[in-house]
Amino acid sequence: MNLKELVGIEAATYVKDGMIVGLGTGSTAYYFVKELGRRVKEEDLQITGVVTSIRTEEQAKELGIPLKTIDEVESVDLTVDGADEISDDFQGIKGGGAALLFEKVVATYSKECIWIVDESKMVNKLGDFPLPVEVVPFGSHNLFRLFEAKGYNPTWRKTDAGEILLTDGDHHIIDLHLEVIEDPRALADELDKCVGVVEHGLFIDMISRVIVGTPEGPKTLEVPTR
Ligand code: 5RP
Repeated sequence: MNLKELVGIEAATYVKDGMIVGLGTGSTAYYFVKELGRRVKEEDLQITGVVTSIRTEEQAKELGIPLKTIDEVESVDLTVDGADEISDDFQGIKGGGAALLFEKVVATYSKECIWIVDESKMVNKLGDFPLPVEVVPFGSHNLFRLFEAKGYNPTWRKTDAGEILLTDGDHHIIDLHLEVIEDPRALADELDKCVGVVEHGLFIDMISRVIVGTPEGPKTLEVPTR
């Protein structure tokens, strides 16, 4: 069993009958959703899933997990998702799979969020992983130029065919190659104020627990209350 599968299965143990569960996106969240599908089928687990992407929606439907949209529920009991980087103080970068906007919306309405990662994602400071910024297409080339002027080394997220990618929300993604983010909270505030930015991949104070896949097994880290 690979480390992603291990943490996916471990995270699914936090899911109980009757819960509304946020279903993350990516190759690690895939295993969480797969395990929930197994429990729905084999253990008659009664849950309602809320997806964070079209990809996850397709997977959940195939597995027979009952679904509602985020707008059909007032809150989500628990969301389990992957992450691209998690710093020492449990802040994160997400959006490597281009689903950051819907992931952040679902996380925002979740009573609890758990991230599942392999140990390569645990870092001292954020920023080695390019920071995704989701932008409306209208005016996005000007935003790109603004990020260039700020020295943020932007690149367009492209499809395998080399075209500028369109997210599930019909936006573009500009990746910022920052190397290190000294103050994630300040950068998040700055990006929040940029007109045309729909959302960015800095997830600040959003989680209560991380499950890290290590060769010795899944290691659960509780995030201290802030
Ligand atoms: C998608 C995400 C993913 O959760 C993140 O990229 C981690 O993915 P993976 O588990 O495949 O490494 O934020 O937008």
